[in-house]
Amino acid sequence: MKIITKTGFAILALLFVLAAMALKPKESNNQDKISLIPQPVSVKYTGGYFTLTYSTGIFYQEANPALKKSARFLAKILHPSTGFPVPVIPVKNKPSGTYIYLTLTENKALGNEGYELKVTKKRIILSANKPAGIFRGIQTLRQLLPARVEKCYLQKGPWQIPTTKIIDYPAYAYRGAMLDVARHFFSVKTVEKYMDLMALYKLNILHLHLSDDQGWRIQIKSWPELTKIGGSTEVGGGKGGFYTQKQFKELVHYAADRYITIVPEIDMPGHINAALASYAILNCNNKRKKLFTGIDVGFSTLCTHKKITYKFINDVVGEISAISPGPYFHIGGDESHATPKKDYLPFIAKVQNIVAAHHKKVIGWDEIAQTPLKKGTLVQYWANKKNVLTAIKKGAKVILSPGGRTYLDMKYDSTTKLGLHWAGYVNVKRAYNWNPSTLIPGVTKKDIAGIEAPLWSETITDLKDIEYMAFPRLIGDAEIGWTPKNLRNWNSYRLRLGKQAARLDDLNVNFYRSKLIPWQD
Ligand code: ACM
Repeated sequence: MKIITKTGFAILALLFVLAAMALKPKESNNQDKISLIPQPVSVKYTGGYFTLTYSTGIFYQEANPALKKSARFLAKILHPSTGFPVPVIPVKNKPSGTYIYLTLTENKALGNEGYELKVTKKRIILSANKPAGIFRGIQTLRQLLPARVEKCYLQKGPWQIPTTKIIDYPAYAYRGAMLDVARHFFSVKTVEKYMDLMALYKLNILHLHLSDDQGWRIQIKSWPELTKIGGSTEVGGGKGGFYTQKQFKELVHYAADRYITIVPEIDMPGHINAALASYAILNCNNKRKKLFTGIDVGFSTLCTHKKITYKFINDVVGEISAISPGPYFHIGGDESHATPKKDYLPFIAKVQNIVAAHHKKVIGWDEIAQTPLKKGTLVQYWANKKNVLTAIKKGAKVILSPGGRTYLDMKYDSTTKLGLHWAGYVNVKRAYNWNPSTLIPGVTKKDIAGIEAPLWSETITDLKDIEYMAFPRLIGDAEIGWTPKNLRNWNSYRLRLGKQAARLDDLNVNFYRSKLIPWQD
């Protein structure tokens, strides 16, 4: 008998493998196309698929208007692309037949935002302790469907969802994005689209930087010149703009429908030129400052000795707090280089009392850690690690926004046209590849409320710019905030991110196609 040579054996083996591959029944559930971001705590695929059809309805537990809203949110995504009617139906008990069912349950492990998603061939059951968890689970369900489901006109089916059991809940309660609407103003529609994208990736805080040297962006009825004068321009001398209180309430409402809390920020005592240009009385010399359209920082300050300054702050904090249902008011406090330290410290202490009088908790940039901190105050790290250690010694929790990781206005590399680079270049890997609980020695998970990715807008003028700088990096921040550290790694993430390309395209997002990511459209 002829002995088979080594090469011959290798060829035979290869043929055998190829034949086996050809004979294997085709997986028709498109599982290899699925990409979940943030990666859930536990996912088990069971090999089959559920198919959405003309007769699939979304049932929800009767007498729960919040579930009805989320059911409608899902139907609004499914209806235009599938062409199916997707009725939303209240029921007393679990229905029979084939359906999607949203229901509240009691499962402590899931917390406030966790959920359990069970997909079998016949039905999809999404359960959670709280309506917020149902909403987060709906985002996972979206990502289990083909990306074209996101389109707003009729697409080809089939609409298959892999059978699976997912149990999921966030690592951190505070998962934020910040938008600087002061350096350049952005319309309500632009901010709403940003929130739509945040919601898809389970972010839950939108921090709006509503005032700075270049612009005052929210109507204050008792101080109307703030917007009339202070809102009349922006970086580069454009026409600026502001939100009326009615528009701000619309934003708050839009956010609430997505289980996003808006954190309003009025930056003080520095970054305040727009107010000083609006009212002479806010200046120590009773003379209005000129409007400012450049990008320097650290030159303006409120007159901390004047009584009227605190009346002004009380009016502003009062009017904004009255239309902000969230628990926080952000007082800025950063880069107050024009305020003597001996004035800065008592100023921040007084402002904390004003905020407390309006039943809000204070958030401030890390500089505020130098002052006595009221219980419940959150300190937002951006630059100075020592301030963070001081803050936690005083019993405060921290929000992590390290400039060289989370600042979405940092250029990706030296060729990026938009953005700045004072905190370095932040490519997609650098933005993703860090852990909150090991970032600062001495600061552990229990000290951390969560993370936030700020987008400062000195160079950002419209929605396309926002999307280019935020995406894909904000998606990484969403995963850092949600997914436990032991389930995150760059190699898995970059593959999953690559598979988000089609979804981002279908959502018309102008994202940056980093060469580090194997994009699959
Ligand atoms: C900041 O970037 N000045 C908080």
